[in-house]
Amino acid sequence: MGSSAAEIEAEIESLREELRHHEHCYYVLDSPEISDAQYDAKMRALKALEEAHPELLTPDSPTQRVGGRPAEGFRKVAHSRPMLSLDNAYSAEELADWDRRVHELAGELPVRYAAEMKLDGLSLALHYEAQPNGDARLVRGLTRGDGQVGEDVTGNVRTIRSVPLLVSAEKLRVAGMDGLPGFEVRGEVVMPIASFRRMNEERERAGLAPAANPRNAAAGTLRTLEPNIVAQRRLDCYAYFLLIAGEYAAAGQTAALQTLETLGFRVNPHRTSCATVEELLAFLERVEAMRPTLPYEIDGVVVKVDAQATQLRLGYTGRAPRWAIAYKFAARAGVTQVQEIEVTVGRTGKLSPVAVLRPVRIGGTTVERASLFNADEVARLGVRVGSWVMVERGGDVIPKITQVVPRPSKPEGENEIVESAEPFHMPTACPVCGTAVQQTEGEVDSYCVNTDCPARLAQSLLYFAHRGVMNIDGLGEVLVEQLTASGLVRSIADLYTLTLPQLVELERVGEKSALALLQQIEQSKQAGLTRLLMGLGVRFVGERTAELLAGAFGSMEAIAAASEDELMAVDEVGPKVSASIRKFFANERNQALVERLRALGLKMTAEKKQRSTELTGLTFVLTGTFPTLTREEAKERIEAAGGKVAGSVSKKTSYVVAGEEAGSKLAKAQELGVAVIDEIALLAMLATRGSEAH
Ligand code: IVH
Repeated sequence: MGSSAAEIEAEIESLREELRHHEHCYYVLDSPEISDAQYDAKMRALKALEEAHPELLTPDSPTQRVGGRPAEGFRKVAHSRPMLSLDNAYSAEELADWDRRVHELAGELPVRYAAEMKLDGLSLALHYEAQPNGDARLVRGLTRGDGQVGEDVTGNVRTIRSVPLLVSAEKLRVAGMDGLPGFEVRGEVVMPIASFRRMNEERERAGLAPAANPRNAAAGTLRTLEPNIVAQRRLDCYAYFLLIAGEYAAAGQTAALQTLETLGFRVNPHRTSCATVEELLAFLERVEAMRPTLPYEIDGVVVKVDAQATQLRLGYTGRAPRWAIAYKFAARAGVTQVQEIEVTVGRTGKLSPVAVLRPVRIGGTTVERASLFNADEVARLGVRVGSWVMVERGGDVIPKITQVVPRPSKPEGENEIVESAEPFHMPTACPVCGTAVQQTEGEVDSYCVNTDCPARLAQSLLYFAHRGVMNIDGLGEVLVEQLTASGLVRSIADLYTLTLPQLVELERVGEKSALALLQQIEQSKQAGLTRLLMGLGVRFVGERTAELLAGAFGSMEAIAAASEDELMAVDEVGPKVSASIRKFFANERNQALVERLRALGLKMTAEKKQRSTELTGLTFVLTGTFPTLTREEAKERIEAAGGKVAGSVSKKTSYVVAGEEAGSKLAKAQELGVAVIDEIALLAMLATRGSEAH
């Protein structure tokens, strides 16, 4: 059945509209609504239509441009040459098609491939300028922006430790690059998964919505106007292009990466040189196997024609080079049905909707629940009981619903339910204790205000015991449930009066674990003012604020007695935070709790020089030779930051730090799925933010 010219024109226009919208979401808002694969499918559909109807092609079509527009707020700077995108292949066939085209176009020129990991971050252009003494200095860092014009984020880029601020004359000489006025390096900025988790934990504690994935978190971070915050987030940058005066500067990609390494840039070590599709597929398989243990996210492999001469022959399409392709992993997403929307109660009493899903396999695990964050998110997505939804697993363990999708024509599995006619509404009473919930004017979240609500108590205890807070190992969900249900614990302070006979009375609690728990509880009395402040669960007081308060006031008494103005005199403490602190300490129950904790012997003063808590609770295993630190130095620095160093790798190991010629420990780490990092990552972790309280 043929379509009329008018219909085709309308179809083209609507695809263009959609693509523009999604580009805006992706590039400007850092909040994509559809997956890359869906975006590409739409782009392909538009391209195909325009190819079939060249008379309808217009210069402003998204097929003719690179991307969306840069966000407001930073100076716009034109790129030395456009920062293009990559075409994608999703199957071995598509890769083989591309390989065939490359060979056709290359003619007699050599075709070998340089394959690298496709890091899931955002691209960055770094400009270096020669100094009179022959060194080259970082003068500008630009985001990709719309590909033609980027945003100047130099101040933020300077805080990224893997970006050299200076490249010495000596290094330039060794690389054969002396005497140049300058050069440019392009690469990918990523947020390591560990930093991402830490950032989201902190955001959650401060009552903020978590970032959706490390890529968004990295993009958002790079665009914050506060370099201090960027420094805390520990971004990382991997270089992949070297340009001189806007031209690719090496004989080929392999040579460029070697030169970049010589110059001191971080280059991803997982790369290969090969000639055939078979070899590429084997590399892809190896990379996919490594994926779960990598400390950062990747979404595929980038294959580049190695020789520059061949690249030049192949040239470019509008938005991507013909000499490179991204082979994307199958998306870690799946479609399933929402069976129920449960509402959980957090320690602050905040109600959070959670979708209970028909179990669906995504990327090797079965997903049964997904967070919906808050009522606004539910409304934005339009999710209701019975909705079919797209679920994605990002860098975080908690899967997310990205959109509502039409009911599949043949839904797999059983227990399909009929979609509710009613949109979802947050309950007006606490689902656990039944107390009427409250919602502050202008706020999204609603709260159970009953401070005795069992759900709130259980969550408060779990939070109090958390590793980053009072660090009471062994006080997990099951035990908390037992302690609260039995009435042994009705308040945080009751933890400190627990006895051995009481604990062993509980089901499945042995004498050994009970003793260990009591010891942990006893030890936590010394956690110090910052941790205790966090542990009390004052709204908006996360780690950073607690540290600042402890540093400024020195004791719990002083903080409790401080006026809102005095609190606001502390750097970074605004009216919202200070009001919340005042409200907390004005409450008689809280006053009684603090007094009881004091009487029980909990430390309520800040030490002059508090030990950095950055690595507390983490165990490291060192293997191989590091570029700058000796093993002994590495060990000392980890221990000084509160971490432990062990001799052998086990499931309890947090990180294996691997250097050159790492041996069996590295293999063991990979086998157990323990994260492997290098010295640079270790140094980044150690680079505390001057957090010692005074
Ligand atoms: S080459 C014109 N190499 O993927 C060449 N890109 O989907 C494009 N990316 O915008 C860049 N890892 O942000 C290249 N090893 C790698 C990459 C990589 C990640 C990103 C980059 C690019 C996007 C295209």
